[in-house]
Amino acid sequence: MISFDSSKKIFKLSNSKYSYYFYINPLGYLVHLYSGKKLNELGIERTNERYIERYAFLNEEFKEVCDENYYYSEQGSLFECASFLKSDKRGAFAVIKHTDGSYITSFKYFSHKIVKGKVSSENYPHFKVNNFDKVETLIVTLKDEKEDIFLELYYVMYEKISGLIRFSKLINKTGKTIELDRICSLELDSYNKDFDLVSIHGQWGDDKELELEKVGHSKIVVNDNHGGRGFRQNPTIILKEHNANYDHGEVYMCSLVYSGNFKFEVGLDEYDQLRLQALISDEMFSFTLQNNETFSTPECILIYSSEGINKATQTMHDIVRENLLPNSYALKERPILINSREPFMFDFDTEKIKKLILDAKALNIEQVVLDDGWFGKRNSDNSSLGDLYVNEDKINLKEVIDFAHKNRMKFGLWVEPEMISPDSELFRKHPEYALYDRNTKPTLLRHQLVLDLTNDEVVDCVFKELEKIFSRYDIDYCKWDFNRYLSEIGSLHLGNEKQGEIFHRFMMGSYKLLNKFINRFPNVLLETCASGAGRFDLGMLYYSPQIWGSDETNPFSRVMIQFATNVFYPLSTIGAHVSAANSLTLQDKAIISLFGTYGYELDPDKLSEEEKNKVIEFNGLHKRFHHIVTKGDYYVLSSPYTSNFASWMCVSKDKSEALVFNFNFRREQTKGRFLRVKGLDPNKNYFNSLTNDVYKGDFYMNVGINISAPLKEGMTMLFVLKEVNFIVKNVLNNKANKKKREKLL
Ligand code: DGJ
Repeated sequence: MISFDSSKKIFKLSNSKYSYYFYINPLGYLVHLYSGKKLNELGIERTNERYIERYAFLNEEFKEVCDENYYYSEQGSLFECASFLKSDKRGAFAVIKHTDGSYITSFKYFSHKIVKGKVSSENYPHFKVNNFDKVETLIVTLKDEKEDIFLELYYVMYEKISGLIRFSKLINKTGKTIELDRICSLELDSYNKDFDLVSIHGQWGDDKELELEKVGHSKIVVNDNHGGRGFRQNPTIILKEHNANYDHGEVYMCSLVYSGNFKFEVGLDEYDQLRLQALISDEMFSFTLQNNETFSTPECILIYSSEGINKATQTMHDIVRENLLPNSYALKERPILINSREPFMFDFDTEKIKKLILDAKALNIEQVVLDDGWFGKRNSDNSSLGDLYVNEDKINLKEVIDFAHKNRMKFGLWVEPEMISPDSELFRKHPEYALYDRNTKPTLLRHQLVLDLTNDEVVDCVFKELEKIFSRYDIDYCKWDFNRYLSEIGSLHLGNEKQGEIFHRFMMGSYKLLNKFINRFPNVLLETCASGAGRFDLGMLYYSPQIWGSDETNPFSRVMIQFATNVFYPLSTIGAHVSAANSLTLQDKAIISLFGTYGYELDPDKLSEEEKNKVIEFNGLHKRFHHIVTKGDYYVLSSPYTSNFASWMCVSKDKSEALVFNFNFRREQTKGRFLRVKGLDPNKNYFNSLTNDVYKGDFYMNVGINISAPLKEGMTMLFVLKEVNFIVKNVLNNKANKKKREKLL
């Protein structure tokens, strides 16, 4: 997969699907040559030719010397790691304040090695390697032109993935202190192509929406600076050729495995060449590195598809499920849960929760989650974060957990460990544990402050409190919330010199805490959350196999949120629950939720008998079909951004079953509408549960399924396609054959 052609000095990274080439040019710079569909040969001279500008350099005697090389132009060549304050003005890979105070930075090749297996970025969440994975890592070491500052570029290639994982590491060997103000995980320079950028933005209750913009000469910055709870934008993007769509054309999907402040910078240079850089945001990022100290970046995955967005999505879903999520839950069924928040808010007691357990059990729900309000004196959201002891006046936790288990139900608990309420015993005892500037009035978002997790003592203290609860009680699931972002930050622990390190160190503190938790309690199913999906990223998914998708359960919004999330994240990672909120039917909401980790946010006691039967029916459907959603391939059939419909489907890997979803946003003419499905075997026969016919996959994919009749505004449609080994037309479409039909599914 990875080799070095020493005569031409080319690094060749190539698997069966994708190739990535770069070389060491005569001046020692790493020049990018190619990224794309697998390619065997490359004309290095022609690839590099640039008739841009001839450069004159001063030679050692400081006389002007002309550089006649047309194959290199600092201004216009494609690089692996761009310089700073030299002639390349397109965006620096690293910004460093050197020991002489200068910021000029330019790295040249020093050495390299190719190792079997994967090298991961230390202390970060990262992609893992499974038994049968074929993986290699290339590490190229570069040295700054002026000083002993080394940059290591890491390229990880999996045989099974069309794409690469990249990260980098800076090492200070100057003998003195330097300051690091920016460092990228990935840079991708590319020849001129007509690119569009797709990113995600959102807010509370409207957690994710896709946005498409044309990549032009004004730099586009996709970023977040909230320090964690960043609805604003998400650390993942798509770069696609202008004509590419869900099924055709060249697409890159690029995601950072990081949950803190991030940045993607994308733009064209004056020659219409593209530069993409992915990094920890350089806003409020300034690290002091003593001699021998290093700084590593988070991993960044770059996926390439020559067959449109759906293929990139499927590749991303596969690698996240197989190589990132915690192993014990990655491809497993998750229990159907019900959460106490909607029925009771803070107003619950032992008896109410026991009743919820029984009511839920009667509906075949498998897990009850006790949400916010069980600890300290927390009867509203203005106190007690940090006081993680049970409020015995309110609830007998042991009694409800034993009761749940006796009734063969699982039990889950809500926590918000990274926060502290000013009205808490912890704050009164340790005000220095809170992260805020002592000379500025801190904003109390949701009446709370953030804990100073840059301080290991605070991380250990919080972990001990969590450990007490989770080892004393037999808890099966944990909802780990994060309800405010970072503002007016200031760390007493870090001191004056290191305030520029707070955002990143806070994130690393959170990761430390999460690591301790999952290692100590590997069997607890963790679901992270940040006021909904305010921290939904690959970093969090390394620790928690599912993340709450949104507090919004109204189908009109939910469909949009899940549509956007599905493009980048496996459906099994998206917490999707049915609520009682007064909009459309329970059935509509259940159908949408079946395409995520399934559950409820309602009081079963308030359901009608008919609704209860529906809940039982849908729990059965979830059991029957969740494996297609959890492990199958996802396809967008029609996008709500370009039509009145959101339609998608999941197909099992062996193509024997598929689950199809369609949502109609507006009343439309309902005559003659066909839904063409994807991903089936053209030669297999499939029974479809919508029209009860059997046809070949070929027919469903090219002609489609007639969905005209049932279309109404806000109508949600679900149907199954199942492989059968016979052809029957229409015979199943009468009452007498009801049993036969059910058997087929
Ligand atoms: C925000 C979450 O999104 C809700 O589901 C709920 O857990 C509340 N926090 C509790 O404070």
